Amino acid sequence: MSVLPILQWPDSRLMEICAPVEEITAEIEVLAADMLETMYAAAGRGLAGPQVGAMLRIFVMDTGWKNGKPDPVVCINPMLQEVGEERVTNTEGCLSIPGISADVTRPSQVQMMWTGLNAGRYVQSFKGFAATCVQHEMDHLDGVVTFDHLDTQARAALETTYREQTA
Ligand code: NI
Repeated sequence: MSVLPILQWPDSRLMEICAPVEEITAEIEVLAADMLETMYAAAGRGLAGPQVGAMLRIFVMDTGWKNGKPDPVVCINPMLQEVGEERVTNTEGCLSIPGISADVTRPSQVQMMWTGLNAGRYVQSFKGFAATCVQHEMDHLDGVVTFDHLDTQARAALETTYREQTA
């Protein structure tokens, strides 16, 4: 396994729509293992394919490892459904936009269907931090980052901060 370089916004690959994974090959298994290792090395709780230049509908997450309850999940070709109408605003970071936290409003609860590395199909409901995480990672597969959820003014302010710190 190896730690992969994480693309930084505004890399254009972070703005593209990713292609479905057609088959779970040995390459996909290696990619998933590398993505988990990369995520842990970067102290993140989620990482999507395009963030490491793999333009495929795959992400990894582990919402428990920082609390001593590791729970690595590999999500292939995920699909999301909202559950209920409640919205919640959380402060989100992103490994591709280091140093920036953005307040993003999203459905508080979602249901996700995905394929696992073992080709099994999974359906699970998520709320709380995990709901935020799966929606954030899902966004990456559609070329969407936290900035895209902000109004013009908030976005401009955060982009300025980001560009100043990376300059
Ligand atoms: Ni992100």
